[in-house]
Amino acid sequence: MTASGLREFLADPAGDGRPADPALAKLIEAISDSCRTISYLVSRGALADVLGAAGTGNIQGEEQKKLDVLANEEMVAMARASGVVAAAASEEEEHAVLLSPAAPYLLLFDPLDGSSNVDVNVSIGTIFSVLPSPGEVPPGNIDAVFLQPGRRQIAAGYALYGPQSLLVLSLGSGVVTFTLDPPTGQWVRTAGPARVPEATREFAINMSNMRHWDKPVQDYVAECLAGTGGARGKDFNMRWIASMVADVHRILCRGGVFLYPWDRREPGKPGKLRLMYEGNPMSFLIEQAGGRAFDGCGDILEAVPTGLHQRTSVMLGAKEEVDRLEVLHRSQAAPRT
Ligand code: AHG
Ligand code: MN
Ligand code: MN
Repeated sequence: MTASGLREFLADPAGDGRPADPALAKLIEAISDSCRTISYLVSRGALADVLGAAGTGNIQGEEQKKLDVLANEEMVAMARASGVVAAAASEEEEHAVLLSPAAPYLLLFDPLDGSSNVDVNVSIGTIFSVLPSPGEVPPGNIDAVFLQPGRRQIAAGYALYGPQSLLVLSLGSGVVTFTLDPPTGQWVRTAGPARVPEATREFAINMSNMRHWDKPVQDYVAECLAGTGGARGKDFNMRWIASMVADVHRILCRGGVFLYPWDRREPGKPGKLRLMYEGNPMSFLIEQAGGRAFDGCGDILEAVPTGLHQRTSVMLGAKEEVDRLEVLHRSQAAPRT
């Protein structure tokens, strides 16, 4: 554990004596400032009148919470003011927003993840992903420049607003964690590099959807539930927080596997979670920590997006578990359309 701040980390993120690109460092600092602001709003809750529904819907057809709207406004304003973001895309906005067209980066975010937990004082967060901008972004079809596979991400991370506010970040050289020190407002490095153990005895899935899953997922969970007497030969524990940030954070801390697979409720959708705002950044972090991320067909980070708000099936975490899921998918499933 190194008791230094975000700025010190950005001065040598890979431990090779070379600083991060100045524009990227500026962006990460700006994101960290916004996450501090959102953290403060979250911590004030009812005192700042930020709980409850906003009375509006987003492009995903979901009811927006006040905090979804406030966090989105904060993130868009930050990206605009930073001067280093060519365009920004948000889970809460129909289209990407053109900001500084010649700037080097594209920013994507889920401004508030876990909105069903906002009003019940359970951990929520902000997820972000940084892609390279392919040059001067034309004012026409801005969304198109974002359609790059997750493998191209330059940085990704999340802020987790829980008992402590944390910033968990990767610039492609491992995953590090900073804790917000409220009296000083500093993000202090408190952990990292994170490592997801290859083996685990803990899985995370919303079991209420069991009857809707594909057979490979049904079989995988049945094996886990069978415990020592089953094919896996060990007992499993289960956790489901319903905030992806919190579930992924637990996996980065103590291992495990997280699944939000495709299911039959909306067969036309590849899954519930969004590839660009949730699947890609979390898969980048998990791979950077030695884990795997799979969508039932291949690595999530290899998927070539065709739409900004595209959904994906997500299975990520401990390598042994994701390998097992891959075997079950390859041996049983006809490819989904
Ligand atoms: P968001 O709040 O950004 O819409 O995302 C919520 C997501 C994710 O954080 C979580 O894992 C999942 O939805 C929970 O879904 P269920 O309520 O279906 O379990
Ligand atoms: Mn989310
Ligand atoms: Mn959200």
